[in-house]
Amino acid sequence: MKSREVTREFSLISCPIPDRAGTQVHISRFRLVSKAVPRGSQDPEYVRGAFARIADRYVLANHLLSAGTDILWRRKAARMVADLQPTRVLDVAAGTGDLALAIQRHCPGAEVTGVDFCEEMLLHATKRGLRHTVVGDALDLPFEDGSFDVVTVAFGLRNMGNWEAGLHEMARVVRDGGHVLILDFSLPRGVLQRPYAFYLNKLLPRIAGVITGERDAYEYLAGSIDRFPCGEAMLELFSRTGLQESEWLPLSGGIASIYTGQVAVMPS
Ligand SMILES: C[S@@+](CC[C@H](N)C(=O)[O-])C[C@H]1O[C@@H](n2cnc3c(N)ncnc32)[C@H](O)[C@@H]1O
Repeated sequence: MKSREVTREFSLISCPIPDRAGTQVHISRFRLVSKAVPRGSQDPEYVRGAFARIADRYVLANHLLSAGTDILWRRKAARMVADLQPTRVLDVAAGTGDLALAIQRHCPGAEVTGVDFCEEMLLHATKRGLRHTVVGDALDLPFEDGSFDVVTVAFGLRNMGNWEAGLHEMARVVRDGGHVLILDFSLPRGVLQRPYAFYLNKLLPRIAGVITGERDAYEYLAGSIDRFPCGEAMLELFSRTGLQESEWLPLSGGIASIYTGQVAVMPS
């Protein structure tokens, strides 16, 4: 694959993405990335490689950079899952297992499986006590239709090659009447908007670069949050996927959000 460098002023991001002709383009600017990356599209090889490199430091970095708030968000999501009293739960893009482990704790009677295409991340989930893990692509889940009562994804859909296809695939493996839950970053509105943009685009990559040694991965994070649908836009995506009774719960002033939806019950 050929490589060309596209560089502009106010450089904030440098990540390789393929353009329409399949040429590897190194984008070195936050604003340009927002225009150049097709909506709903991430390069899976870049994503897998980035997570493989930060796998050993991912949990610590997450907790430090969010001052532990991410633990509370996942706990809230796990409680919502527990309220549905599932017996089989799938956590997609489970990574080092933070959400899957929280669900395992809150739903002691349920079988909780974590699936991720980055084996380096999943190995940590296993070491930390997640009982069922499967290496697999979220866009082609290795499970039969309707296998789970609840399917969750935390901070994972945003990183997938196609958000709509990812959501469709999650809904496919949920039984009729079962639920899908997404936890991910969103962009706050109002007074928090500007300070958060400064933190996300300028401070976070620097601090995370020192902790993980992978500043690029966190520059990528800022761009990916900017492009990812949030609020009403995500509910619209749920509706296009055929999910019903969709709800949006903003967390911490809208820095993160939980979205839930239900797979329709087919008339017999
Ligand atoms: C930010 S981590 C989130 C991990 C975990 N869910 C958490 O809450 O900490 C994103 C994860 O998504 C995984 N991922 C991204 N695209 C994927 C895909 N197409 N199939 C499977 N896993 C994917 C990455 O490998 C990574 O482990």
